[in-house]
Amino acid sequence: MTLSEDKIRENLPDKLKDMKIAALGIIDSTNSYAKGEFDGSPLLVLADGQSGGRGRLGRSFFSPCGTGLYMSLALKLSAPCDILTVAAAVAVCRVTDRLSGTKSQIKWVNDIFINGKKVCGILCEGLSLTDGHADAAVIGIGVNLSTEGFPEDISHIAGSLGISETDRNKIAALICTEIFNVLGEEKSKILLEYESRLFILSKEISFKKDGVSYTGVAVGINESANLLVDSDGEIMALSSGEISLASENFVK
Ligand code: BTN
Repeated sequence: MTLSEDKIRENLPDKLKDMKIAALGIIDSTNSYAKGEFDGSPLLVLADGQSGGRGRLGRSFFSPCGTGLYMSLALKLSAPCDILTVAAAVAVCRVTDRLSGTKSQIKWVNDIFINGKKVCGILCEGLSLTDGHADAAVIGIGVNLSTEGFPEDISHIAGSLGISETDRNKIAALICTEIFNVLGEEKSKILLEYESRLFILSKEISFKKDGVSYTGVAVGINESANLLVDSDGEIMALSSGEISLASENFVK
């Protein structure tokens, strides 16, 4: 179904009915668009396709026309939110659980997996309305609904929900609503749900920190959502900015 501002709005709860919404055709990136248009009130941007979809760590996000959900939500943060990506991941999982009928899992820190394939990526970017402090953010979410023909470098890991006859307007509204719900919940509850969906817990992983290679067993997350890894008895807290865990990094 075609993206439509009105259809998205119809599916939002009363408290969000008046938010700004842009339902667009093919654009560069919904995150970039949202950053440019954000004026302080919540803004939801959807695109049919993206010619320059962006992922974390400078990667691109494959965003062909019509087969995926490409959305960005720009909003002010009432307090510094160090777990925005975590909150967004939990919100998306609750929706993809419903769509897929299975429990969605998370590859720390921002990838959603179903049946062993990455079906969604999340890119949160800080925004400053005032003096350089990140007092707002854009949450960018890309979900592969029926996408096929992934580029070769991601074809072994990328997958889709496998739903083609679907109303992207409704899914966008569900995810947006769930993000606001999660942001209103206790941080400890969000972290617990996030942790329960992490599929690398108890697995041995390899990673590099400050240029040194390590292996260890992922044992949990802390209150900042750093991944806690037991490496030869020493508990190391890995931050998402310094570590990239490729799927190939899983030792077992
Ligand atoms: C990742 O896999 O590293 C994150 C991917 C995030 C992709 C979404 S699609 C909508 C929004 N616009 C972008 O340019 N990126 C995000």
